[in-house]
Amino acid sequence: MKRVFIIVLVTASFFASSLAVSEEVVNLYSARHYDTDDSLYSEFEKNTGIKVNLIEGGSDGLIERIVNEGKYSPADILITVDAGRLWKAVEKDVFQRIASDVLEKRIPANLRHPDGLWFGLSKRGRIIAYNKKRGLPEDVRNYEDLSNDSLKGQVCMRSSSNIYNLSLMASLIEANSNDNAEAWARGVVSNFVRSPQGNDTAQLRAVSSGECGITVANTYYIGRLMGSDKDADKETINGLGFLFPNQDGRGSHVNISGGGVTKYAPNKDNAVRFMEYLTEESSQRIFSEGNNEYPVVGSASGPVASLGSFKEDTVNASLFGERQREAVMVYDRAGWR
Ligand SMILES: [Fe+2]
Repeated sequence: MKRVFIIVLVTASFFASSLAVSEEVVNLYSARHYDTDDSLYSEFEKNTGIKVNLIEGGSDGLIERIVNEGKYSPADILITVDAGRLWKAVEKDVFQRIASDVLEKRIPANLRHPDGLWFGLSKRGRIIAYNKKRGLPEDVRNYEDLSNDSLKGQVCMRSSSNIYNLSLMASLIEANSNDNAEAWARGVVSNFVRSPQGNDTAQLRAVSSGECGITVANTYYIGRLMGSDKDADKETINGLGFLFPNQDGRGSHVNISGGGVTKYAPNKDNAVRFMEYLTEESSQRIFSEGNNEYPVVGSASGPVASLGSFKEDTVNASLFGERQREAVMVYDRAGWR
């Protein structure tokens, strides 16, 4: 009896220690904070037995943390929003190159880093919103038209230091040259109703109320208002019209939310597996819907789908980072604060 008891004890402790050693994990540092993301993580855990440890924070804070943790960082994956921020992580040497046939096949080339340092996981357009009652001036079809004289005293914009506007400017420099982009920015500034203030939602509210006539905003802010059951949000949406710019040319500016595997990832295989899982069509739906974004695989669902399909600028999103310093300087010279 005593012997059996000892065997049971030894066996139990063996299993306990082997479990502790072999417990599979993936450590995710994420600047996304959506409840729907949690259901994605638990589904992955259920399917694979790999536990997802989540650390949430602001993008800059998480990047700094990974840099400070250095070789001993537990981070396997960093997820953040806007290619401009992914570029900041690349500048700090946070990511490692990942070669995955699955990721390369599923994610369009323009939405991932050319060397596999990061991968786009969802998309957002930055589009024109105008006051519906006033209507859209006839000569406005493109971003470039926001500097037209017909928009004097009508334009409201977010500050130029905002990452979305920096990435938009980077795309304009890429398409039209530095000088033309600067002339454009000057023209837009001369059309300002007020100095830049507030986030995208604040611009949409100001345009809807008639304080301003026209602005640009990311599509998920529009989707959020569309999906809201608050009266104030319904009123805001009812007062707005939307235009996907540059449809006869290069297409509307599209940015991403995305992530990459960190340089010293202790669980690299699990990290790649998790990234691949996020690009499965069913995961994509949940991931993109969490923030009213467009999936990078498959088609849109939820409120943003009702905005319709559109032609996207397919310039590689890594350029938004590469041209970020120029974008800052162009805005500065143009007096767009
Ligand atoms: Fe945002």
